[in-house]
Amino acid sequence: MDLAIFILMILDLRIEKLVQGGEGMARLPDGRVCFVQGALPGELCTVELLQNKKDFTRGRVVKVIEKSPDRAQPKCPLYGKCGGCSLQHLESDKQALYSERVERENFKRLAHVELPENFVIHTGPAWGYRNRARVVIATSKEGKVRYGFRMQKSNGIVSFENCPVLTPALNDFLKSNASKIYEEFVRSLPVNRKKPFELDVNLFDNGNGKVSYYYKGMPASDFEKKAVSIVEMAGKRIQSDASVFFQSNLQLLPELVNAVQNAVDEGLDNGEASDAWLIDLFSGVGFFATILKDRFKKITTVERDEGCLKHANVNLSAENVSAPAEDWLAENVVDIPATLIVDPPRTGLPPSALDAIVKSSVNRLIYVSCDPVTLARDFAKFRDAGFELKRAEGFAFYPQTPHLEMMFVLSR
Ligand SMILES: C[S@@+](CC[C@H](N)C(=O)[O-])C[C@H]1O[C@@H](n2cnc3c(N)ncnc32)[C@H](O)[C@@H]1O
Repeated sequence: MDLAIFILMILDLRIEKLVQGGEGMARLPDGRVCFVQGALPGELCTVELLQNKKDFTRGRVVKVIEKSPDRAQPKCPLYGKCGGCSLQHLESDKQALYSERVERENFKRLAHVELPENFVIHTGPAWGYRNRARVVIATSKEGKVRYGFRMQKSNGIVSFENCPVLTPALNDFLKSNASKIYEEFVRSLPVNRKKPFELDVNLFDNGNGKVSYYYKGMPASDFEKKAVSIVEMAGKRIQSDASVFFQSNLQLLPELVNAVQNAVDEGLDNGEASDAWLIDLFSGVGFFATILKDRFKKITTVERDEGCLKHANVNLSAENVSAPAEDWLAENVVDIPATLIVDPPRTGLPPSALDAIVKSSVNRLIYVSCDPVTLARDFAKFRDAGFELKRAEGFAFYPQTPHLEMMFVLSR
């Protein structure tokens, strides 16, 4: 087919499997792969091709001719418009099983490793789980207030009244407070400043009756009362605020915490890691280090976002460093088999950080990841440097979406 004259093409395709990112995968008659948004394995779908590349194509379902028994009616009226919860067409109680298959294949393909037989995905509530969100509060010229999520591509806003994955506390808070927050923001502007019609706001539900919020330009005198909050986890009080990173599924988080604690204890018990030093890299407000602080003689936390430091200093008395992890690793010699936890953003470990860990005396690494693709990439490098995969666990922190949290334990 001449790519230049490709305008519109509709064809019937049998979906082979689900792939990373949640799309169904099929093959075109010419052998190229087609990634189909909204399709499930086994289904026969009429697909409209939207993207036509030399090596692959992309399409969307126009009609499902033969349905999977696992197909569900999307619960949210904004499915397909908001861009947020693209897996709602798959039964909630089947999502972890499909994710497990996707990840087993992902790790085989990208890292040439079989995930262990006992690899499990821990699950929690399918809806009403998300305790952290960024929303836009917008007003019309007439002053009518609405709120929604910002669209990734167009920068437009998808308005909602009730988002079914947000916690009930966040939905209630928005209904009662969106107008007040916008008015408060307008009052804080200098008199002669033209008021914008859109305000990006971070919201955080601490799971214990308090919703905190933050917007750029919030008066410093309001910050403590409105943005800061405390989460109770594993018997510890952890201070944070709505402007910085915090885990976004508090209901399932105890299972990840438990897995990390067990992994740490196992390393201390079997002698692979020492209680002389815990290093928590990409530490946010010192989340894991705070929970583990009683087990170690010395603790270092390293986090790039300066806004986290004041909380880390409240949460634990340790060497809390505000710096990129790769810079800290370049300047500090880790010459004992310290216990090391890394929890990088989606991009995974910066290559220089990974190299420094390999060259250090660390023999056991607990790697928490929110992106299995970069985890697979980094794992392959650790494996080539002599580390073995000891344990792998998954956590369905983001039901209705294709995203997955994982924890790997590596040792050498
Ligand atoms: C997935 S979060 C984990 C935070 C923390 N472990 C927790 O559980 O709350 C990743 C953190 O890494 C921080 N970060 C991103 N790049 C970094 C870098 N190069 N060095 C240090 N921290 C970084 C982000 O600001 C964010 O707080």
